[in-house]
Amino acid sequence: MIAAAESAFAQRYSSPVGLGRALASLGREQPVVFDELMNAPVVLRHRDVAAALRDTATFSTQFYGTGPMNGAMITLDGAPHHRLRRIHNRFFSASASAKYADAVAPIAQRTFGPVAAKAEVELIGECIARYPMEVFLTLLGIPDELGDQGLAWVRAIVTWLGSPMDQAAAEPGLQAYAQLSDYTSGLVQRERHTGGDNLLSEIINGFESEDAYTTEAVTASVVSLLLGGFETTIQMMSATLCSLLLNPDALARVRADHSLVEAAIDEAFRWANPSAGLYRLVTRDTGIAGTGLAAGSLVYLGIAGAHYDERAYPDPETFHLDRRGGAHLGFGLGPHYCVGAPLARIEVTAALTALLDACPGLRLDSDTPLSFYYGARDFVQHGTDALPVLT
Ligand code: HEM
Repeated sequence: MIAAAESAFAQRYSSPVGLGRALASLGREQPVVFDELMNAPVVLRHRDVAAALRDTATFSTQFYGTGPMNGAMITLDGAPHHRLRRIHNRFFSASASAKYADAVAPIAQRTFGPVAAKAEVELIGECIARYPMEVFLTLLGIPDELGDQGLAWVRAIVTWLGSPMDQAAAEPGLQAYAQLSDYTSGLVQRERHTGGDNLLSEIINGFESEDAYTTEAVTASVVSLLLGGFETTIQMMSATLCSLLLNPDALARVRADHSLVEAAIDEAFRWANPSAGLYRLVTRDTGIAGTGLAAGSLVYLGIAGAHYDERAYPDPETFHLDRRGGAHLGFGLGPHYCVGAPLARIEVTAALTALLDACPGLRLDSDTPLSFYYGARDFVQHGTDALPVLT
């Protein structure tokens, strides 16, 4: 048992490597350890984390389905989940998402191009934090509505869902969920009448074509997408930039050859691991690598540790653009693999390309050391609160 104060998730690190290194070191001694801070056994090795993510019958996402989230795609298993994924594939598969790149590129240019005009910038607060929201609202066809209110609702809800053991997060999360759902439901009804050339209409059509349209079902879908797509993308963009700025050789290669952006994003997912882990509800008495897990308990699948497991990733502490081997778990794995991954890749690629092109001398501001920790930006991800750079 690890006491809360000793938990790797309670520490601050001077590099993105710190959390993964600490968890992988524990994982070399034991495959699963009870962590008082996470209030659950933490699974530390890649093989066990990946197997549990695939085995949704034993390690379920049903726990996300508390209160109003009941019935959302992430809470479902089997045929009902499969049906919803099929609907979402109509507008979010890699091929369906490719068309969003044209709408995303100008937003990235507008957001990241002006950075070059300033000598010093805190990238997360000044640019990154508003970008995924603007992209998604533009795609939905409502670019000028909502503003910071949307992000505040999303943050309250995801904090609640991502920390099922934290009672204090529940009340604000529930309240935000009700407000966001009311707002979204109004949008869905309006769009169904007016019909437009936008993602919201595509979502409505996707449900209609599977005979699954109800205002509630489409509202739940849009809310799920809103929940899944903001802070995650913010942290991922920050992680990718950090990774490149801390690894100048890799940065130089990406600058010279933009086709390496995709590889940089994938390696940053592993090396700087914003998705530090995922909770699962154990549905039957079982065990992982000899540790018993009781039905009804929660377990935490430690992606950050798995990403530094040398059995899956040789030389894990080095950022390798040419890394081959185990794909990262940053978008999850198995049936609940992130449905927004293609869009997220488009967003991060456009942002990175716009920023690097605008700022040939982009570098970290060494006067402000970075601090990496789990819970950055008051959110259940691993990263930094700020990313100060010089242009
Ligand atoms: C880089 C940004 C992103 C990251 C790191 C990320 C990460 C993840 C992860 C780890 C999961 C699996 C959760 C679990 O198994 O418990 C997931 C699922 C999901 N994500 Fe993402 N995501 C990102 C972007 C997006 C975007 C842009 C959207 C939509 C606009 C989105 C929507 C979803 C949804 C709806 C699910 C549930 C899928 C299902 O249950 O089948 N995500 N995401």
